[in-house]
Order: sequence, then C-alpha cells, then structure tokens
Amino acid sequence: MILVTGGCGFIGSAFILDWLDQVREPVLNLDLLTYAGHLGNLRDLDGNPAYRFVRGDIADIDLVSRLLREHRPRAIVHLAAESHLDRSIAAPEPFIQANVVGTCRLLQAAHDHWRTLPPTEAAAFRFLNVSTDEVFGSLEPGEAAFDEAHPHRPNSPYAASKAAADHFARAWHRTFGLPVITTNCSNNYGPRQFPEKLIPLMVHNALAGQPLPVYGDGRQVRDWLHVVDHCSALRAVLDRGRVGETYNIGGRSERTNLEVVHAICKVLDEARPGAHHADLVRHVEDRPGHDRRYAIDDTRIATELGWRPAIAFEQGIRDTVHWYLTHADWVACVTSGAYRHWVEQQYPSIHAAA
Ligand code: NAD
Ligand code: TYD
Repeated sequence: MILVTGGCGFIGSAFILDWLDQVREPVLNLDLLTYAGHLGNLRDLDGNPAYRFVRGDIADIDLVSRLLREHRPRAIVHLAAESHLDRSIAAPEPFIQANVVGTCRLLQAAHDHWRTLPPTEAAAFRFLNVSTDEVFGSLEPGEAAFDEAHPHRPNSPYAASKAAADHFARAWHRTFGLPVITTNCSNNYGPRQFPEKLIPLMVHNALAGQPLPVYGDGRQVRDWLHVVDHCSALRAVLDRGRVGETYNIGGRSERTNLEVVHAICKVLDEARPGAHHADLVRHVEDRPGHDRRYAIDDTRIATELGWRPAIAFEQGIRDTVHWYLTHADWVACVTSGAYRHWVEQQYPSIHAAA
C-alpha cells in the first residue's frame, strides 16, 4: 500500500482516484482537512476496502510514525501543503509550518521507519516529494524554459517554502540515504480545484455575474497541465524514476492569463447563449512580486520515462468548465462563509465597486 498526504485536496483527490483506478493498490490518506481539504472529494470511495482516511497533521511525528509502523506503506506520495500563493502574501506563517516544518517532520518519520525495513523493502521504498515550478522563480519572454538544473530563485513566501522543502528532501537523501524523488510541476487545472485559484475562480465569478479580476496587465504566462496528466506523471516517476533525482513536469501549454480567462469565457458563452462573459473582465492591482512567466523543459521525464501530457489545453479547459457547470453543489459546499471572507479581503477594489 501507499501513503498519500494531502489526499483531500485538489491534486491529492485526483491522484487517489486515479491510483485506485489504474494501479488498484490500497491507499492510506493522511490529511488535516484545512480549508482546502474536502472529504466530499473522495465520496465515491465510501465503503471501498482499498481506501482509508486518517485526519491528522504531517507535522505530528508520533502519528506519522505510528501510521508507518502499522501500515508499512511501500511509498509516501507527499502532496500536503498550503498551496495558494496569494494567501502566502497575506499570511506567510502557515506556509512555513505546513510546507517546511511539516515536510521535515514527515522526512524524519519516514527515515526512522525506513531504517528499520529489511534490505529489499528498504531498496524499494520511495518518498515522492511533489513540488512546483514556482521554486525556480520567473522567466522573461523568450528565455529558455526551466530544466532540472535551473537554480532555485523563489519569489513568494509560498515558493520559498516549497523550495525549502525541496532542499530538505534532497538533504534527507544525500545525508541519510532516504530514497527521495522530487517532482516540480507547472500549474494544474481540472475538477475539484478550490475556487481561489485562477481557473475555478474565474468560472465561479463568471457564473455569478461577478467581475473577473485579472492582476496587472494579464500578460503573465503560465504553463497549464490537466491534473489527470499530473497524476500519470507521478505514477511514472514513482514506478521508474531514479532515486535522488528531480523531474520537471509540464503541459506544453504556455498561455497568458488573459488567454486563459478568454478561453473560459468562450466555453461559458457557448453553454449560456446570449451572455458575453468577457465583459466581466476587470484589471485589478497586480500581485506583489508577481512572476512574469513559468515554462517547463520536460526533456528528462519525456526521454527517461517516456511520459508526455495527453490532454490538450483546449479540450481540458472545455471539460473543466463543464465539470464546474455540472457540480454547482460542490462549489456551493466549499464556498462557505470563510471563503467569502477571503475573497472580500483579497479583492477590495472589486468589492468597493460592487
Ligand atoms: P490543495 O491546497 O488543494 O490541497 C492541499 C491538501 O493538503 C488539503 O487537503 C489540506 O487539507 C492538506 N494539508 C494542508 N496542510 C496539511 C498538514 N499540515 N497535514 C496534513 N494535510 C495538510 O493543494 P493542491 O493544489 O492539491 O496541491 C497539492 C501539492 O501539489 C502541493 O504540495 C502543491 O505545492 C503541489 N503543486 C500544486 C500545483 C497546482 O497547480 N495546484 C502545481 C504544482 C505542485
Ligand atoms: P494561481 O492560480 O494563483 O497560480 P500561481 O500564482 O501559483 O501561478 O494564478 C495563476 C495566474 O493567474 C497568476 O499569474 C496570477 C493570476 N491571477 C489573476 O490574474 N487573478 C486572480 O484572481 C488569481 C487568483 C490569479
């Protein structure tokens, strides 16, 4: 069996559903259920004997040690994190606690456990540290995409906390021999993403007739990967990745934020004839320290592991918008009072104008 941390979040829930469908190996999910974690994301697994959930903190070393002792997973897929960059600007501390302290405690518990394993089990064990391309900093237009040798130059508290986690993961491998692999992935999109991130936020606002807040000139570039493709990449790395290596994962889909917003509006216009959702676009104050461009050079994962993204952005964004259109109950459930408070704090100019 494998242990997944953060399995009730956006990528974690997609990963567990994909894993049980494709690999059919039992999963233990350790998740603290912060504002970003929803048990409902895995409701389809109710009663499935191959799935177990434990509510808890990755920083709780006694709990993690006990789970490792009792369940003896052959791998840890570490996804638990504070993941929203704008929140890290508003309040950096939780990012240090979850992403840095939490990851270090998890590494510590994993190492203590790994040392006790018989040699064949120890050799097969993997700690997969799931990270982001944001650790590399910002690219200018035309500059070469991030490869694995690109220096870490994080610009936000979120990116710095993930970069720190990457460094500690590397150190636990180099110093203590723990079989760690790190992946650095570009922006994910797909079902069940919390509507604070660009794509679900825009869909949510457009459907409510609310302004679509584009930071600055909206010409910042991100590389977009469907979450299902991220899951297949993580499976490939876990299966065939070299211990001690890092693998960059990307969607070969660089888009400006304005292009993404207009693509969403186009799908919504088709679904709701008569409406012209792009009229809702509003340019708002830019994000402090806003990275201009991220781009991934996926040569290593493509050539070594034979992985490449399967879902084209145009199809993926269409499917994603339709998922939100048909899951209004999910959106209503996660956009509670606490969510509304965050949105009002984050977009004061829009709320003043409304
Ligand atoms: P998310 O915010 O949707 O989910 C995070 C999950 O972690 C939640 O279920 C939350 O309850 C849980 N969690 C938070 N702190 C915890 C703790 N201390 N102990 C146990 N559980 C805790 O995030 P996501 O978008 O699914 O991202 C998952 C991982 O992938 C993160 O490490 C993120 O940095 C990384 N990543 C995300 C993207 C992206 O575009 N979303 C891209 C590349 C990498
Ligand atoms: P986001 O989904 O927060 O991911 P990240 O910052 O980790 O790349 O944002 C994606 C891009 O969209 C980023 O350039 C910031 C921009 N953005 C907006 O323009 N408006 C918004 O309301 C949000 C949430 C993001």
